[in-house]
Amino acid sequence: MCDERHRGVLIGCGFFAANHMHAWSEISSVTIVAVCDRDEAKARHFSEQFGCQAFTDTKVMLESMKPDFVDIATTVSSHHALVTLAAKHTKLVICQKPFAETLQDAAEMVRACEATGAKLVVHENFRWQKPFRHMRQLLDEGRIGPTQFLRLSFRHAFDIYARQPYLAGIADLALTDVGLHLFDLARSLMGDIERVTCETQTLNPRVAGQDAFQALLRFHSGAVGSIECSFYSRMEPDPFPQTLAQLEGTRGTIELLAGYELRITSIHGVTNENCEPSVPAWGQRPWHLVQESVRAFQTHVVAVLNGAAEAAPSGAHNLETLAVVIAATASSRTHQTQIVKRTLEQAA
Ligand SMILES: NC(=O)c1ccc[n+]([C@@H]2O[C@H](COP(=O)([O-])OP(=O)(O)OC[C@H]3O[C@@H](n4cnc5c(N)ncnc54)[C@H](O)[C@@H]3O)[C@@H](O)[C@H]2O)c1
Repeated sequence: MCDERHRGVLIGCGFFAANHMHAWSEISSVTIVAVCDRDEAKARHFSEQFGCQAFTDTKVMLESMKPDFVDIATTVSSHHALVTLAAKHTKLVICQKPFAETLQDAAEMVRACEATGAKLVVHENFRWQKPFRHMRQLLDEGRIGPTQFLRLSFRHAFDIYARQPYLAGIADLALTDVGLHLFDLARSLMGDIERVTCETQTLNPRVAGQDAFQALLRFHSGAVGSIECSFYSRMEPDPFPQTLAQLEGTRGTIELLAGYELRITSIHGVTNENCEPSVPAWGQRPWHLVQESVRAFQTHVVAVLNGAAEAAPSGAHNLETLAVVIAATASSRTHQTQIVKRTLEQAA
């Protein structure tokens, strides 16, 4: 294990990548030496703002910069080509979610990194949000005993289409945009998912596909989970981008309520803690929950680069989360429960 400076490059200078760049700039052991976007104006804008080189061709950038890591912040259709290319030029590849369009693509991306020895980390930042980092720690301390039930609820009417207009055209929007974050979060708290049953809805007339789902999970441990998501649920105040949660163990319950209040019921009684993250100097409400989680995720990536941690989640782990999304989508169409292992086997 060693602590050293790491030279990184970023691909995709769009809406969310600004959070990546600001958060990297706060990590002293990392320097982003170059950015790339096929839209030259976007690459140039980032290079001027963050003081690095700009490229429009990823291969040219990777060959000339020889980075220690590559941060891919493009949309999903480019991930397969970019991850397989980056694997040949670096020690660690970070891929934004959704990891891949298909399980076959995801498996090839994992194999491409295994073949070159590059580590592969998927940017699943929900599990890195401050309230859920704390919840994981409470579980590890045994505060509520072995888990038996999880409810996650991500429901809001925040206008996500204003900054990400492409979302309105995605067929399985809620499952592929936030569902996979919620399934990854559920796995990080409860372990792997054995089967899933799912119903979807299209609520917002502006949206082409489904923008709400309700999934029932059975975990390998025997615990059950209920995951709900809607992008068209009007409430005041709107909780976006908070995920509310109830996690029950054999000896107590952890509730994450609106306003970042964490209520812990255990044999020691009831305690309340506030888990609201601070607003980064470059951030703003209500995005600070997400922005702080990007920095926490990237701090974890540095630990992986230093050999001090295993990727969480790795590409191989996220492949199975993608299988849960695909199984949930199949369940919503067939109205039948899907076994996640079978979905994985069908793709092999
Ligand atoms: N983890 C999170 O919380 C979170 C939040 C928002 C978005 N995202 C994800 O981030 C990704 C990007 O989303 P966005 O809203 O920033 O998209 P965006 O369209 O604003 O930005 C993507 C950028 O990538 C560039 N690009 C695409 N293919 C490229 C290629 N092959 N080479 C170079 N540049 C290329 C585009 O020109 C564009 O500038 C998506 O996968 C999205 O799901 C994650």
